[in-house]
Amino acid sequence: MMIRTIKTIFPALAVGFAVSLFATQGMAQDVTGDPARGQALMLEMKCTKCHGDSGIGHSDTPGVPRLDGQFEPYLVNQLFNFRDGRRPHKFMELYAGRLDGQTVRDIAAFYACQGDTQVEDKERCAPVR
Ligand code: HEC
Repeated sequence: MMIRTIKTIFPALAVGFAVSLFATQGMAQDVTGDPARGQALMLEMKCTKCHGDSGIGHSDTPGVPRLDGQFEPYLVNQLFNFRDGRRPHKFMELYAGRLDGQTVRDIAAFYACQGDTQVEDKERCAPVR
């Protein structure tokens, strides 16, 4: 009985630890994004076609999520997920497939700075707001 409990609890703890480690790494990276560079890159790559100028999307495409004001580490993780095949999607795989790490962080910083932003250091957002 005891053995059984330990066997079921231990993997859960191990996963929890791995997740918190991953989340902390994501947080540590979030200060490296340059929102102005991110804006220029997303314009160049035509992310606006579906996500709109500031990530608000278009009223006629409800299948496209809003990106404005989203948490920066979340956006970074999702772009890596599309790029590295962990989140399959016919369009986003293609768009994210071309992005290097710094580009992902810059674009995430741009969208995180839009709308009702949760970025604490508002100075970072000043160039794109
Ligand atoms: C052809 C339309 C289209 C284009 C162009 C496009 N996207 Fe997307 N994007 C989508 C759709 C649709 C989804 C939702 C995917 C899903 O349902 O899993 C999405 C999802 C996302 C997400 C995840 C949002 C979330 O809440 O999880 C991010 C981040 C994102 N796109 C960023 C970008 C960036 C950056 C570009 C340009 C490099 C881009 N997209 C270009 C259609 C597009």
